[in-house]
Amino acid sequence: MNKRIAIMTGGGDCPGLNAVIRAAVKVGSELYDMEFLGIEDAFHGLVDPSARMPHGNRWLTSADVRNVLARGGTILGTSNRSDPFHYVDPENKSKGEQDVSARVLQNFRDLKLDGLISIGGDGSMKIAQRFFELGMPIVGVPKTIDNDLGATDQTFGFDTAVSIAMEAIDRLRDTAESHDRVMLVEVMGRDAGWIALHAGLASGADAILLPEIPYALPAIANMIRKRSERGQRYSIVVVAEGAKPKDGDVSALEKKPGEMRRLIGAAERVATGLAQIVDADMRVTVLGHVQRGGSPTNFDRILATRFGHAAAELCAKNDYGKMVALRDGNIISITIQDAIAKAKLVDKSSQLVQTARATGVVFGDE
Ligand code: F6P
Repeated sequence: MNKRIAIMTGGGDCPGLNAVIRAAVKVGSELYDMEFLGIEDAFHGLVDPSARMPHGNRWLTSADVRNVLARGGTILGTSNRSDPFHYVDPENKSKGEQDVSARVLQNFRDLKLDGLISIGGDGSMKIAQRFFELGMPIVGVPKTIDNDLGATDQTFGFDTAVSIAMEAIDRLRDTAESHDRVMLVEVMGRDAGWIALHAGLASGADAILLPEIPYALPAIANMIRKRSERGQRYSIVVVAEGAKPKDGDVSALEKKPGEMRRLIGAAERVATGLAQIVDADMRVTVLGHVQRGGSPTNFDRILATRFGHAAAELCAKNDYGKMVALRDGNIISITIQDAIAKAKLVDKSSQLVQTARATGVVFGDE
């Protein structure tokens, strides 16, 4: 009998997910006669496989993944609130968090599946490892715009998100210069400052505030004043959503059961603080989910396609408990256990940060 492989996307969506699905389905079905079951909305589709969602779980052939390479989002839907070990039933939230992992395992067996390709970020890989330890044959594919997975040199989605942020900052520079304003731009990334650092460098930002380098407002105010004295009466400050002051924590909402803590208000907080100590006209732009949508860049399409191919090959070899990764230009596989061991954060003493400082970027710790 042909191998039956489930495929799902978990966590926040990001450009390139469809390219992974396309490559895995094409390689698996055409080279190895596999059958693919697309699982809707991450683990929701295995907690309750009875087609509650818009499309429901569905079999995917090569024909079903035609023309999705360039499409943003995910044709399977996704969720960052579907962890079966801390599951909050969307239909009955008052029950709070429950462990429904046994139900997921049973549904997996009832569907007569031989393996699961889970495309997700650090949270999804942690869930994948727990299920692998419980006997589910899983292959992981890393994705996240945040680029914070230590095991892979890069995740797809990051390059697209940085390009979107860069273009937005370029546009903000025009209007900042026209009005002699300080523009604060908040970008995503959670606890990692990769999007802020890369987008800030690529767009020539004057200050970049990162979660890894807590800031002091006087350093940013000095930069604004000095630029103004030199006749540059506008400034661009890129603020990572996870940026925090030297003596404080991230700006966030209270964590709700079954959900991640939402980071919100980092740039607004900087603007409010700066207004007390520097005389400047300031505006805040929060790029938000714009960074997650749209067509992937050529880099992300190619990386996602290579990951999808490699994931199908691992399933063909019954080599489960592994995650595919990019290392020094090659696609490799490592155990999911090793993959989740370390987050990748910006190193304050890295060449990239040094280059930024050398070219005049202020990080707020000067
Ligand atoms: O992890 C990806 C990410 O976009 C983060 O950068 C951001 O903090 C979070 O997801 C936002 O999640 P949500 O889509 O639930 O608002």
